Amino acid sequence: MKTETTIQGLTASLSPAKAARKIIGFVPTMGNLHEGHLNLVREARKLCDVVVVSIFVNPIQFGPNEDFDNYPRTLERDQQLLADVGCDIVFAPTVEQMYGNQPRLTNISVNNITDDLCGAQRPGHFDGVAVVVTKLFNMVQPNFAFFGQKDYQQLAVIRQFVRDLNIPLEVIGVPITRAADGLALSSRNGYLSPEHREIAPVIYQSLQTAAQQLTSGTALSDALNTIRATLTDAGFVVDYVEARSPELQKVDSFNQDVVLFVAAKIGKTRLIDNLQVKFTAS
Ligand code: PAJ
Repeated sequence: MKTETTIQGLTASLSPAKAARKIIGFVPTMGNLHEGHLNLVREARKLCDVVVVSIFVNPIQFGPNEDFDNYPRTLERDQQLLADVGCDIVFAPTVEQMYGNQPRLTNISVNNITDDLCGAQRPGHFDGVAVVVTKLFNMVQPNFAFFGQKDYQQLAVIRQFVRDLNIPLEVIGVPITRAADGLALSSRNGYLSPEHREIAPVIYQSLQTAAQQLTSGTALSDALNTIRATLTDAGFVVDYVEARSPELQKVDSFNQDVVLFVAAKIGKTRLIDNLQVKFTAS
């Protein structure tokens, strides 16, 4: 496995694969890797000849009061984990390498679906994601790019600009990797105290309960209220509990497939999760 820190180095490392028309798979990350990230790499490994993973903590997707400076940077450990799952090239550029010294005057802004859910309280966040992912796509020029359904809205935003801008690659969404107790894996889980870590699986439990309620006829608003009450009783401060269509449009009843979304804080840690509930007409 090679690690490249410059765009030139990356291009040179990729050129034999490109010349041989190999299928290139790409997994963008911000590092501090866990099994959720590694499963994306395993999926890429299954479908592609060459797997590239980027590790870059992207300053322009963090708000002023978010954890950019304190975001864990664990490159050596990440490299070891990536070598073990069969990654071929790690691309770990510096901020200067990615953004240079000249001001950036171009933005990529996806309308409508970014104002909702996580976008409502993080103005500019998805623009920052869209810009960095587009830059990385242009540097790697992969055939397939892999993203987790954990960040469902991010995946939808990426699918949208890839389609809108005719970026020539296929986006693959990978299901959420969970701990044995159901908690969706996240770098943020490391911030949880032992006590809060015990409570955290209530998020997924409440989503599953709501899914069962919906399939047995409970009204959507009631199922969402039950999630809110369960989380509040367990000690969370709920940020949002919402249902949307798989394309992130508003829905007011369970008469089609829906995705249930939760964002909630336990202590200082904000956790997100989602669950798709299939509709079958009876
Ligand atoms: P990061 O938070 O490091 O996540 C990298 C990828 O791993 C994302 O596609 C995310 O959805 C996926 N992922 C994280 N936890 C997961 C889990 N439990 N199950 C499945 N997939 C999981 O998301 C980002 O970085 C950045 O915004 C990025 C796209 C790299 C742009 O900077």
